[in-house]
This record gives sequence, C-alpha cells and structure tokens, in this order.
Amino acid sequence: MVTPALAGTAPLGPRFEEPAAPNPAIRACSRKAKAPPLPDLVPPGEHPTSVRVRAPLSIANVGPGFDHFGLCLEGPADVLELRTSRASGLEVYGDAVVPRDLRRNVATVAAQEVYRQSGLRFRVEARLFKGYHGGSGIGSSGASAVAGALAAAALLGLDPREGPTLDLVVHAALCGERVASGSAHLDNVAASLFGGFVLVEGLDPPIVHRLPTPDGARIIVALPTLRVSTSKARALLPATVPHQDAVANVARASALVHGLLTGDLEQVGRNLSDRLAEPYREPLVPGLASAKQAALEAGAWGVALAGSGPAVFALGPPDRTEAVGAALREGFGRAGVPCHTFTSQVGEGASLVGWS
Ligand code: HSE
Repeated sequence: MVTPALAGTAPLGPRFEEPAAPNPAIRACSRKAKAPPLPDLVPPGEHPTSVRVRAPLSIANVGPGFDHFGLCLEGPADVLELRTSRASGLEVYGDAVVPRDLRRNVATVAAQEVYRQSGLRFRVEARLFKGYHGGSGIGSSGASAVAGALAAAALLGLDPREGPTLDLVVHAALCGERVASGSAHLDNVAASLFGGFVLVEGLDPPIVHRLPTPDGARIIVALPTLRVSTSKARALLPATVPHQDAVANVARASALVHGLLTGDLEQVGRNLSDRLAEPYREPLVPGLASAKQAALEAGAWGVALAGSGPAVFALGPPDRTEAVGAALREGFGRAGVPCHTFTSQVGEGASLVGWS
C-alpha cells in the first residue's frame, strides 16, 4: 500500500516549459499499457517538491516464463529521492558501478522520460540508494527504472491509477530498462511496479496480469559473488531452440500457472525448470549445477536461475528454508564461488514512502 510518510506542504506546480531534447539512448517504446491498478501516490491536486519512492527487486522468468513471468521480492529495494531544483544532479549510494551520468543511469533515464513525455524540462536532483548491485539477476535495473518513473510521476502530481499516467510510467520504466539491458523486457519492471507474481501477456501494447500467490510462499535466494551482464546473457541465447524444449517449457509454464491459481505452491516449485534460457547461460554461473542439486537434495521443490543470473532462487516447504539456503551456499562453495542467501516472502511492489 502507498503510505505517504511526510505531510504535504508548500505545493509547487510543475513548470511548463519547452520539452527537453529526446535522449538518444531511448528508442520509442510502445504505449497504451493494460495492467493491474496501482494505488494513488499523492493526494489529487498536490504538487510536492520532493518525493521518495521504494521499488523492490524481483525475479524475472521464474523458471519457464522467459521474459513473461516476474515475481516481486519484499526486499532488497531501491529507494529514489527526487527533488525539484534549479539544476539537475544525481548521487548514487550502494553500487559503485551504476552510472552517475543522468543520461545513462536507469532511474534518471526513466524519470527524464516522464518529464519529456509531459513536455517539461527535467530540473531535478536525484539521490538513488541501490538495494543491491546490478548484474545480480534480481532485477536491480528494473527496480531503478520503476523508482525513476514512479517518482517522476509523483513529483509532477500525476495519479498513476489513471490510465494515461500508468501508460506513461510503464513506458518510461521500459525505456530505463532498455538502457540497462539493451532490451525493453517487462518482467522485472512489472514485478517491481505491481508486486506479486506478474504474467506479461504482451509488450505492444504492454498487458500485465497479477496472479494470486499462495499464502506462506518463501523464496530462498542465493547471491553468488559474480556479476552477469543481462545483455551478454541475452546474447548467448540461440535464435532457434529444439522443438521438444519449447514443448517442455509450455508444459512447465502452464503447470506453474495452474499451481498459482489453485494455491498449490509445491506444483509451482516443481515446475521451475527451464530449457529455453538457463542451459545456455549456465557457463556464466560456475556452481549453478551443484547449487541446484544440493538445494533439491535439501528438500527444495524446485530451483532456477533468477533472471539472467547469477542469482538462483528456490521454493520449498517452510520448514526446509534454512536447509535449502545452506545447501545453495554449499553448492556454490564446492565450485569455489562464495555466496550468501536470504529468504523473502512475495513483495507488494513499489510505493511512495515520503513526500513534502
Ligand atoms: N527476462 C530477462 C532475461 C530478465 O532473462 O534476459 C533479465 O534479468
């Protein structure tokens, strides 16, 4: 839920000026999003001078749903503060590798796109607190993109429950994600934005469904000390795949969705395997096979690469979460790859955590 933490005072309307020049890093993204509703960000009619948005990280693909399934984590999360200012600036905390250039940073690219599409010049100071570093597989860039788009909309006093603003937020977040990964896939973005388990029906126009998740779901996440660039991981994927692999993924994805709709978490877990992307990416993640095997032996229902890796996640019975986490660490350890683990419930998506 959206919980404005600071009282709104000293309203300042947006300045209507000539649009800034288009950012060459952004190519046109599709509009007219259809998606689950979002709560309002700031009370109608208010024009805050500063906003703070929290956007949780997420797991894309969720096994067999390459580019079309996403699962929001409770945390870690990116937090972005935007403040109207005479001059623009960006400070980043928590990840030394994330670009400090406003025109290259995912969060500010997304925020600027909201301004550009609104016909406004971007004069905003941004402070981005990265929840976890990029190249991890748990949707760091998607979270930044969502934070940027949603915070910019909030700063302009736009209501994301309204169709055109939601279109704009999704479009701008996709533009941010494209800058980070070279492609405008919506799985991480939709999960961070809407929360829960999301099914991306299509991109043009963007159509997203939020599916129910069984109570008590625990997601055990392993974060090995490796970095994988999403664009490089995507470059490894073949243009065509064996027919039987496509058939297997259709069966897994369908059974996984059935498990969600019937509240059968074990069915979700045992259908996490993927034959379209994960096998081609395995060379980028030393220890993946032994970590998966160890987790299954420790009682996990299923294990898969998170997004393009190197993170791995597992689902299992609540009383096995610690054992599965330990097994994932041990499995990576056997390959000489240090790793830490955490357990998360399903997250609720992005929210405004402060404004004034
Ligand atoms: N669906 C994307 C991929 C997610 O697997 O390339 C990247 O995190």
